[in-house]
Amino acid sequence: MFDLKKVIRSNILTLEPYRCARDDFKEGILLDANENTIGPAVSNLSKEEINLELNRYPDPHQHNLKQQIIDYRNQTPNKHLKNKSDQLTIENLCLGVGSDESIDMLLRCCCIPGKDKMLICPPTYGMYSICAITNDVSIEKVPLTIPNFQLDQDKITEKLQSDENIKLLYLTSPGNPTGKLINVDSIIELLNKVGQFWNGLVIVDEAYIDFTSKNNEFSESMCTLVNQYSDLVVLQTLSKSFGLAGIRLGITYSSKELSHYLNAMKYPYNISSLTSNVAIRATNKDGLKLVEEFVDQIIKQREIVLNELLKLPNVGRNIGGLDSNFILLEILDKDGKPSNEVAKKLYNTLATKEATVIRFRGSELNCTGGLRISIGTPDENERLIENFTKVLNDIINE
Ligand SMILES: Cc1ncc(COP(=O)(O)O)c(C=O)c1O
Repeated sequence: MFDLKKVIRSNILTLEPYRCARDDFKEGILLDANENTIGPAVSNLSKEEINLELNRYPDPHQHNLKQQIIDYRNQTPNKHLKNKSDQLTIENLCLGVGSDESIDMLLRCCCIPGKDKMLICPPTYGMYSICAITNDVSIEKVPLTIPNFQLDQDKITEKLQSDENIKLLYLTSPGNPTGKLINVDSIIELLNKVGQFWNGLVIVDEAYIDFTSKNNEFSESMCTLVNQYSDLVVLQTLSKSFGLAGIRLGITYSSKELSHYLNAMKYPYNISSLTSNVAIRATNKDGLKLVEEFVDQIIKQREIVLNELLKLPNVGRNIGGLDSNFILLEILDKDGKPSNEVAKKLYNTLATKEATVIRFRGSELNCTGGLRISIGTPDENERLIENFTKVLNDIINE
């Protein structure tokens, strides 16, 4: 039986959250938070910015924003949700400065530095390791299976059975750099299996989830399942489908109990007034309509870019899947073999001679020759295709 209290560090279990001035009294002559009551020292604020009262500390709880987020996600529950009464409430959410903050916070919440470990499934997002190393948490690895970049259930189970210091399992679905959704049924199977012997958290990072195709009734997202599986945590962000990487807003969905500890740990004012103002507008009806339009556009453009680049003789396959806003192309040498050398040269020349910047990912496990290309605007994509074709051709014929 899963016991959250054995996952969370004992110092966090006893943590009393910081009590903000505004938690006690909200109205009147507010002289209790050492703010500058004269106003912001900016001479040309817009009307909207003035209304935000930027000289005041922001709302530490963000109930309105959380409510809009859960209203949206509850509309399309995951097909594995058994009881409607288990749908999301605002108590399931903790907001952070991008999902990067959530990744770090879970480590700090659960892992004792120098003792506990986390498990990742490469190739995967690099920040899990950066956060683990900064927190002195060691990293265990079980690679995703190839060619479909799915879970290796047996090896993950074996690893978790053999090492009781592993507290967290980080999964990325859809993956980065793989762009491939991990089959939700297989994550559920894993949760059911490991839940019988392992007392740790399965964290599913869904930064790119909105780019997976969805039908009207259900979503691939697992966020609506956190009340059903108390050892499941889901991370999302407004940086991708919402087009708001600049405001830094990440969302952690977890059981109410875990969410309570995460909210107690977070810096009280981590979400700025500017961020929440934009995020509230992005998650209302009008904003969500735009998100859908953007996602459609990106998916259509992804097909165009992929089809054009796959025609080139020295481009192999799209290594991963088509569940995100990027593709991962395999670059081949003259003999038709995946080549990091050619891929790196192409990447460098594109950046330095053609001002076209993509990402070399050939050093990631099972991604030899890999270049990751984010899908741009139609204009950008046209220029990318042109420059990519020319530079690759020049390199091969050198
Ligand atoms: C898989 C994955 N998770 C999390 C992040 C970080 O997102 P955020 O901008 O919310 O910190 C990224 C960013 O590229 C990502 O690829």
